Amino acid sequence: MNTAMHSRLGAVAALIVVAIAAAAFFVGFYVLPSQGSGSTVWERICRAAGVVQARSDARAALPAFTSVVIPHAAMTAGTPEQAGRGATLALRCTACHGPQGMSGADAPNLRGQYAEVIYKQLMDFQRGARSDAVMGAMVATLSEHDILDLSHYYAGLPRSKDDRLASAPALIRVGDPMRNIAPCASCHGRVDGKVGAPALEGEPKAYLQKQLTAFAAGTRMNDANAAMRNEARRLSKDEIDMLTDHYAHAPL
Ligand code: HEC
Ligand code: HEC
Repeated sequence: MNTAMHSRLGAVAALIVVAIAAAAFFVGFYVLPSQGSGSTVWERICRAAGVVQARSDARAALPAFTSVVIPHAAMTAGTPEQAGRGATLALRCTACHGPQGMSGADAPNLRGQYAEVIYKQLMDFQRGARSDAVMGAMVATLSEHDILDLSHYYAGLPRSKDDRLASAPALIRVGDPMRNIAPCASCHGRVDGKVGAPALEGEPKAYLQKQLTAFAAGTRMNDANAAMRNEARRLSKDEIDMLTDHYAHAPL
């Protein structure tokens, strides 16, 4: 055998080794892991390495959009009996939302919040359209009747009704038409807001910031017709800071 033949044999052997390795990789990391749901090459390789479970679970657990239709009973004033039952039920909420609905921490204040807002948010938590580990557990065993009573109890606690719109930042009063940002007050106004838009005055800044960031990122998506997601993703970080600062310091 001459040296030329030697090196050719060597090359063939090397090719065979590479081919076997490639086939083993293909079967081990692509064909076998694909027994399951169809997915991208990367997901199959990750699944072979044991990482994919978390990814696909996270996707399956994405919350659904809101399915709550606010009933008439949440839009009318509650009866004293409802508020009374609500007050008793609310004893389990005071640890975080405070006695009389003033949290004192970063949980939202519920005092004087619109009944339809509390009703919708609690139903969304219960159905998984809005996700929060703590609140999900809190509402799990409440009946719709309980939720209505709680809503009327908190809505009945006094909140100031004075509208200091004149001194509010322009984004709140007139929005920014060039950037397609509607004025916050057109929905969140105390005097003529839209049904389902929460009162924001006096809410903890950290809470408001967390909600706006979640709407902008699409991790909170229980707003009907994406009204808040569209609004929030057009706001800069500085604007979110300025707006939440304003609302947090406005009298509740
Ligand atoms: C262990 C603390 C804790 C308890 C107890 C608790 N909550 Fe909450 N609640 C929170 C936190 C934190 C949030 C904000 C979640 C988020 O960041 O999205 C919240 C959010 C809410 C909201 C949404 C408010 C809004 O403006 O959107 C409502 C309504 C609410 N809670 C009602 C209740 C009621 C009624 C109870 C009692 C049955 C209760 N909570 C018990 C911590 C708590
Ligand atoms: C087109 C109406 C509309 C406009 C304009 C609007 N919002 Fe909202 N916003 C809503 C509605 C409706 C909700 C409640 C969504 C839901 O059902 O969970 C909401 C929720 C929020 C929340 C979460 C409050 C909570 O307690 O859950 C914040 C914070 C907020 N809006 C801030 C703003 C700011 C700041 C602006 C102005 C830059 C603004 N919104 C403009 C309709 C609007």
